[in-house]
Amino acid sequence: MKIKTYENSINKRLVQYLCYSQIFGIESDLLCLAGPNAKEFIEFAQSQNKKKIISYEKEMSIYLEQLNLLYSTKKLKNKVQFKSGDIINAQPQQVIDLDLMCTFKSAQNTISKLLYRQYTMNSNIKCFMFSVSYMRESSSIEPILKFINKLLGVECFLVNSLKMQYGVQHFINCRKNVIVRAYSYCDTSPMHTIQIIY
Ligand SMILES: C[S@@+](CC[C@H](N)C(=O)[O-])C[C@H]1O[C@@H](n2cnc3c(N)ncnc32)[C@H](O)[C@@H]1O
Repeated sequence: MKIKTYENSINKRLVQYLCYSQIFGIESDLLCLAGPNAKEFIEFAQSQNKKKIISYEKEMSIYLEQLNLLYSTKKLKNKVQFKSGDIINAQPQQVIDLDLMCTFKSAQNTISKLLYRQYTMNSNIKCFMFSVSYMRESSSIEPILKFINKLLGVECFLVNSLKMQYGVQHFINCRKNVIVRAYSYCDTSPMHTIQIIY
């Protein structure tokens, strides 16, 4: 099987940088999907003030590559945990980044379970991010906002969408001290990244 990599995903990296720079002040553990370019992603997450990085992987070949990286890079020991399996079974953390490759419809179960478990965690400030593709689906982010409203009861709504260098930034208004940011971009396939800080 040919494994997709993210080395040339310039827009994805830019949006990732925008999201993580907003939570630089949250020095916490990170639950994520480090994927096939784990070294690059882990170095980035560490540069963004994230302490312990717990990454899940369901593709065995990618997981074995990640273990290889861990055993060959001494400085990662005690700072990174690579786990094999579906992230849906993970313990929630203060910061969660679900960088998924499927559509919102197929990811909804995983997103809602982890977001709800994080929501009920006892912590001052939390951040939940997720990325989903929208190939062959409407590019509208309204269904995602409706889902967030229902799950967190926050009444957020889209105010405006502006074209940016990397794609589109959606400006979202929210009640109840919740910040929701959304970005749409395309490297090889069209993606939405949503960031919820609450
Ligand atoms: C988009 S890639 C991650 C890219 C990485 N965050 C980066 O920025 O370079 C997603 C990775 O997560 C894995 N994956 C997707 N869904 C998963 C799930 N539910 N549980 C565990 N691993 C999953 C995929 O096999 C893939 O390696």
